[in-house]
Amino acid sequence: MKNRMKNDLEKIILTENEILNKVQEIADKINHDYKDREPVIISILRGATLFSADLIKNIELKLELDFMAVSSYGDSTESSGVVKIKKDIDTDISNRDVILVEDIIDTGLTLKYISEYLKKHNPKSIAICSLLDKPKAHKIDIKIDYVGFEVGNEFVVGYGLDFAQHYRNLPYIGILKKEIYS
Ligand code: IMP
Ligand code: MG
Repeated sequence: MKNRMKNDLEKIILTENEILNKVQEIADKINHDYKDREPVIISILRGATLFSADLIKNIELKLELDFMAVSSYGDSTESSGVVKIKKDIDTDISNRDVILVEDIIDTGLTLKYISEYLKKHNPKSIAICSLLDKPKAHKIDIKIDYVGFEVGNEFVVGYGLDFAQHYRNLPYIGILKKEIYS
């Protein structure tokens, strides 16, 4: 089964070990930056689930975990720019330090929308933490506080990232063959 998914990849760009080492590095930074604080971690469904799970296991702070679901993509690989909230947070974030955890920043439109939306709840601070970033694809200025890896504009899957809801369970990240989605 996993082999069948592997065949859909042009190549693996990040191994499981490389990812987990980077996640530990990011967690160490957060442990340092948020010393003596109790952040609210908001994981963006569904792509950030694997990343946020591994991340919080390495965070040694008292924290709360919440989830938000938005839609922007459908089954396409192009950002529509239209963001809709499908599941809101249940935590009161007013006067709290929020860390938004995302799988990948492409145009930046999704996170821009989410952080503007969350600011209305008057958090003390909002930081953005994304495992992957596609800097060449940004359509707006977005400040990313914690980033794992920069990638090119290819479509990547695995470790939470999907194409049409598949490949999320791969423990590594790879570039999807163009023939799969075109
Ligand atoms: P943005 O609004 O264009 O920044 O889109 C961000 C969202 O698009 C991410 O949360 C992902 O769900 C999805 N996305 C963007 N690029 C990729 C990719 O290469 N693989 C899988 N999902 C992606
Ligand atoms: Mg996503």
